Amino acid sequence: MTKLFTNIKELIQVREASVQKVSGTKMNILPTLKNAFLLIENNIIKDFGLMDEIPNFSADEIIDCAGKMILPTWCDSHTHIVFAGNREQEFVDRIKGLSYEEIANKGGGILNSAKKLQATSEEELYQQSAKRLNEVIALGTGAIEIKSGYGLTLDSELKMLRVIKKLKENYNIPIKATFLGAHAIPTEFKHNKEGYINLIIDEMLPKISSENLADFVDVFCEVGYFSVDDTDRILSAAKKYNLISKVHVNQFNSIGGIAISTKHNALSVDHLEVLSDDDLAQLKASETMPVALPSCSFFLGIPFTPARKIIDANLPLALATDYNPGSTPSGNMNFVVATACIKMKMTPEEAINAATINSAFAMNLSNKVGSITKGKLANFFITKEIPSYGFIPYSFGSNLIDEVYINGNKF
Ligand code: NIG
Ligand code: FE
Repeated sequence: MTKLFTNIKELIQVREASVQKVSGTKMNILPTLKNAFLLIENNIIKDFGLMDEIPNFSADEIIDCAGKMILPTWCDSHTHIVFAGNREQEFVDRIKGLSYEEIANKGGGILNSAKKLQATSEEELYQQSAKRLNEVIALGTGAIEIKSGYGLTLDSELKMLRVIKKLKENYNIPIKATFLGAHAIPTEFKHNKEGYINLIIDEMLPKISSENLADFVDVFCEVGYFSVDDTDRILSAAKKYNLISKVHVNQFNSIGGIAISTKHNALSVDHLEVLSDDDLAQLKASETMPVALPSCSFFLGIPFTPARKIIDANLPLALATDYNPGSTPSGNMNFVVATACIKMKMTPEEAINAATINSAFAMNLSNKVGSITKGKLANFFITKEIPSYGFIPYSFGSNLIDEVYINGNKF
């Protein structure tokens, strides 16, 4: 089955397969073709080029895109979309003056979500999560990473990871599963953090590995959660099961989480709202992708990740949503791209590169998604009629997506 998209006003993010990520000043370059065609065969991008030079194909279906643009689908490399219920009450408590940390210290926060998740059946959890996945695909996301970390017991962490496995089976976008048992210290282990870390290392990791339930491992490395030494122990243990690390670091404090993550060759370090010069130097000496989560900063009213400092140091930067019930109840990558431009002073070119090719890299999916490249998956979206691609972040809050194609089919 072949489909030919014609008269595309601008085909965005056209790349050779060799480009796996972009850094520094190269982030400000977004390769495009004006007045272009795109040919797909089944689920794969087969060819593209200028309308003037279109070869003589006979396609099974021709779709006229006059006035519209095509972008590769967004890659969301950091989410927690498997959760139960919501934390709307904490949202109201914060409006009334309590901080995110104060709420967590009173037993709210991650522990509140864990209590709800533990009491929810696997089937119900799947239904709630699938609804969120449908919502974000319709918003243009065509590859996603999903974390555990609201279970905090062996059974409930397995329940979360089995839900992610079922999502992988039932949806045809690339999905990566991350084991985040070290998300918070459960109440039962309040005075015995070592006991919980032993549970993660001695019971959770072997079981998860034997059922092949995770691609990556994550730790919330932060004051009041897991220290640098704890993170070191957990990442070392996970390495024995071939789990690559992606680590929550520097959300509220810079405590050395970046150095320990790069020591473990982490694929990404995520959050980075607080970033010291030493942290920056560690990143420069590594291949680790820094990931910013601007919707989280927006929702919690905490500093935005210093994107300029990172990009101007010649580093790459990726963008993701952090969709979760506590700090970011939104999975809208269009909003993330707009917020990166508006609040982090990223150009539209930098933000689109960060939300496609670089966020694909942050999931080890550079060979499949993240750009319009021959041989990659036919995951892309067609915009409404817009004057320029910069109009997407400029029109923050508007939905400018007309149609989303996943594996070559309309979603
Ligand atoms: O990435 N920072 C840690 N974890 C999540 C939030 C968890 C929650 O509040 O439920 C985050 O922001
Ligand atoms: Fe997160």
